[in-house]
Amino acid sequence: MKNRLVRIIIFLLIGVGIGYGIIYLQDQQELKSGVITASPDDVKISRSVEEPEEEQNTGIGGPFEMINQDGETVTQDNYADQYKLVFFGFSFCPAVCPTELQKVAVLMNQLDEETAAKITPIFVSVDPERDTPDVMKKYVEQFHPKLVGLTGSQEQVDSIKQSYRVYSSKVENEMMEGYMVDHSSFLYFMSPDDNLIALYPSKDTADQIATDVKAKISE
Ligand code: NI
Repeated sequence: MKNRLVRIIIFLLIGVGIGYGIIYLQDQQELKSGVITASPDDVKISRSVEEPEEEQNTGIGGPFEMINQDGETVTQDNYADQYKLVFFGFSFCPAVCPTELQKVAVLMNQLDEETAAKITPIFVSVDPERDTPDVMKKYVEQFHPKLVGLTGSQEQVDSIKQSYRVYSSKVENEMMEGYMVDHSSFLYFMSPDDNLIALYPSKDTADQIATDVKAKISE
């Protein structure tokens, strides 16, 4: 048991490293100017390995209250019997989010029916100002019929971001209309009881994730 926790923590630390790399690359690609500095405090994932052995919780994820794409208030209990693939982003995102959500759709369709039925893919907005439930509904429908879109008040969004240690930052730029939201881009694989099973960086392919998810569910 302890061995598994250590593996998850090592995986997380590697993930955070890759994440910073990805954030850096996104800064370069998506934002021609505008300097962002992500403080390490924004993505604080450190956990002592001297925790009691029974404790499997990595501290990622947890209770939330959000508004789904149908305007209904939902909590973690609405998905209690489901594995979850959770991705944070915003519907106005020009490149990263559509690519990732397309990948989620492809991998969901790639899974056998029995496995796919156990998983709910969830897209969480880090831009509730523009991502109203209506906007989210039109957006998630483009990708996969099972994809849930969660948004809410700024407070609700801040709270779920904190639980998942998600970094995002609004970036305004005189050269472009509106604003961009720079954000971390991991896909979180969560167990039915909301423990982190795996974190997939954006370099992972649909094939790789589908294979891994299937193996972990049948473990
Ligand atoms: Ni994005």
